[in-house]
Amino acid sequence: MITLLIYSLLLCILGVGAAVAYFFLSITKYAGPPAGSPDGDVSVQVLVLGDIGRSPRMTYHALSIAKHGGKVKLIGYLETSPHPDVVNNPNITIIPLPNPPRRPPSIPFLLFAPFKVLYQTLHLTRLLTHTLAPSQWLLVQNPPSIPTLAIAGLACRLRNTKFIIDWHNYGWTILAGTRGRAHPLVALSKLYECFLGRLGDLHLTVTHAMARQLRNPPYSIAQPMLAVHDRPAAIFQPLSPSNPSARAEILARVIPDSARDLLPSLVAGTTRLLVSSTSWTPDEDFSLLLDALVSYASSPTTTPILAIITGKGPQQAHYLSQIAALASSGRLPPSRVRIETAFLPFADYAALLAAADLGVCLHMSSSGVDLPMKVVDMFGAGLPVAAFEGYESFGELVKEGVNGRGFKTAGELVEVLGRLFGEGGGEELEGLRRGAVMEGGRRWDEEWHSKVGMVLGVR
Ligand SMILES: *[C@@H]1O[C@H](CO)[C@@H](O)[C@H](O)[C@H]1NC(C)=O
Repeated sequence: MITLLIYSLLLCILGVGAAVAYFFLSITKYAGPPAGSPDGDVSVQVLVLGDIGRSPRMTYHALSIAKHGGKVKLIGYLETSPHPDVVNNPNITIIPLPNPPRRPPSIPFLLFAPFKVLYQTLHLTRLLTHTLAPSQWLLVQNPPSIPTLAIAGLACRLRNTKFIIDWHNYGWTILAGTRGRAHPLVALSKLYECFLGRLGDLHLTVTHAMARQLRNPPYSIAQPMLAVHDRPAAIFQPLSPSNPSARAEILARVIPDSARDLLPSLVAGTTRLLVSSTSWTPDEDFSLLLDALVSYASSPTTTPILAIITGKGPQQAHYLSQIAALASSGRLPPSRVRIETAFLPFADYAALLAAADLGVCLHMSSSGVDLPMKVVDMFGAGLPVAAFEGYESFGELVKEGVNGRGFKTAGELVEVLGRLFGEGGGEELEGLRRGAVMEGGRRWDEEWHSKVGMVLGVR
């Protein structure tokens, strides 16, 4: 009996050992570009543990690599349709990840999370070590960090692939924002991110401030690091000066039906059009804008405003009822300030930005060193901004008095609105618009090629 037990135990150990040995021995390493490729094909796996269609920056990375002749495997979830240029690009292959299991509401987060991570770990490990051919580079978006950083780091070591981490933000500061700083997972994910972040051979960041932070403890990253700022997509373009009626046409198309009556005064400029896009989450304090508009409306001499708020999110219903209450109590008189919400197709949103007078951004930055993509897009459309300025990297995008104005409180925002939309404010607004057009004129691919393209060795 005992011997039988020992035999089966030995057999088990042998089996597991054989499986592990097979796993490692069957891994092929990257050994240079395939023979015969004339200019040394650069192969890059681009990985995001998120929806490809809603990962603009990884999409732009993939498009730029492909444009300059590299071969891309773009790995991520297929929830919404990816950018059409990605789908139609002969140099990009999309590798869809299977949707992770969903948490049944009856199972607590802490019990379910390890199960989901294990599932993702097994699938990603197989994909990156066996299913896909080894590539010269693996470019991973961070966050999400778990389990991508660990698996990608391991796969790169095993396959002789160079590991690039593209830091958009930190996973642990986002987690701290949603679960609270004291949550046990926050400390754990910080440790994980700091430790595994050091596995990268090259690091890309969205700001210089983030690069500085990653050089220092607790991250202490020593490898080469490049700040590659986000740039507007091609769909965001300023109004063309050669078509003076373009603005009126756009307004007629995109203004919500409930605000049609304002169309003539919007075209004439006697009502100002303000646009804000928000995700209606706690890290964008919408009450700042609401308080500012209420205070702005209380002065009878200011220019009327139509504020169009785009976006969807958890706190939307809460604020909509607040807006309705303010309007019916007379604190937000429709003759002074009207607030409309809209969810527009992408092209209409881009057109709306180009036709608006001012963009408002309430992004507060959980890490202090990222930048709001929506302001990048506003600049692409030539729209100056008033933006919350209370974080370190703010000045890398919004230049005070050049392409926008910063504020920290509702009072400061009222002051900005009053001045820009008031008598004599037109000149300042025009100046800011020129600054926005200038900033938005710098597009992604040039910046990308001069920094990342050089390192990757694409044409
Ligand atoms: C794909 O790569 C080739 C070179 O291999 C290049 O000439 C071509 O422009 C690329 N195509 C796209 C759509 O990026």
